[in-house]
Amino acid sequence: MTQPTPMPTDPPPMIEIRGLKTHFFTDDGLVKAVEGVDLDIHPNRTVCLLGESGCGKSILARSILRIVDAPGRIVGGHILYRSADGRTVDLARARPGSRELRDIRGQDIAMIFQEPMSSLGPIQKIGRQITETILLHRQMSKAEAREEAIEMLARVGIPRPAERFHAYPFELSGGMRQRAMIAMALCCQPRLLIADEPTTALDVTTQAQILDLIAELKEELQMAVLLITHDLGVVAEVAEDVAVMYMGKIVEKSDVFGLFEAPKHPYARALLESVPRIGMTGRDRLPAIRGMVPHPLARPSGCTFRTRCDQFMPGICDVREPVLKPCGDGEVACFLHSGETADV
Ligand SMILES: Nc1ncnc2c1ncn2[C@@H]1O[C@H](COP(=O)(O)OP(=O)(O)O)[C@@H](O)[C@H]1O
Ligand SMILES: [Mg+2]
Repeated sequence: MTQPTPMPTDPPPMIEIRGLKTHFFTDDGLVKAVEGVDLDIHPNRTVCLLGESGCGKSILARSILRIVDAPGRIVGGHILYRSADGRTVDLARARPGSRELRDIRGQDIAMIFQEPMSSLGPIQKIGRQITETILLHRQMSKAEAREEAIEMLARVGIPRPAERFHAYPFELSGGMRQRAMIAMALCCQPRLLIADEPTTALDVTTQAQILDLIAELKEELQMAVLLITHDLGVVAEVAEDVAVMYMGKIVEKSDVFGLFEAPKHPYARALLESVPRIGMTGRDRLPAIRGMVPHPLARPSGCTFRTRCDQFMPGICDVREPVLKPCGDGEVACFLHSGETADV
């Protein structure tokens, strides 16, 4: 929580998401997992995506990488990616399986998942997997790549990395596997790291080490980071920018100070009121907010949060959909802050 908001002289965003919609065409109906998201991701900044389970965080992240599985697909909007040479590619429109997309996915944008086995191959030693990734993306000899791989294993906190280099993923503990996956994601020096609840399954000490490492590499490589978490402690520690998501929409965007000092959206306020207490583990920190998230196939009209909102205004909140509007230093999608009144 130390960096100021971007100044006009700062580099342009690396990613500009505009009006993004990703829907699932299921047998039971249409699930609007991402429903009109606008979000910028800046070099050398960490944006945290915050929200209860099922609100669309993972699908938003997977949309950026174009790894949304059927029956889901992007049905609208843009994901503008500005590459190192200044070209802009709309990832939302890139042809699936195209060279362009594969190159960006392997080299420019890396993702780490909650479940390490989703990106580590099971039948190859981890050292070899990392070395091959390095050789694919960086100009290095085999010996140099090997050294780099061992160094990377050391940097993610794997003890005796030269020995572990020869281990198969199944020979490692859960925490070590998670670290190996992170080494794998970071060894090609991505420009953007997307981390989807990367430390949820780890103990607190390991969690802190991994978050520190991500922060270090962010500075070193001027990396942009999109970190998904429902852990407010993590947000307070690593975020510069925060986007709060509810039912596929971003309801509040702010820098981290603004959010913690004066959350504006009733949902963001409710999330923050559930401040973790000492002795709780990451898993216990799920916020207790009145009522339940509506079923994805039964989206409320107007503001989707209105069914749980203590400040629900009949005739407004159930009639029109609030959109993000500037408010203080951030943006909020709520009629309490928009200065609008009921339709007359
Ligand atoms: N394969 C799928 N088929 C149908 N609906 C899906 C699928 N994957 C995700 N969804 C729906 O998309 C919404 C967002 O899911 P997700 O992005 O995984 O939530 P989060 O990561 O915030 O917990 C949820 O309503 C979820 O049920
Ligand atoms: Mg998720």
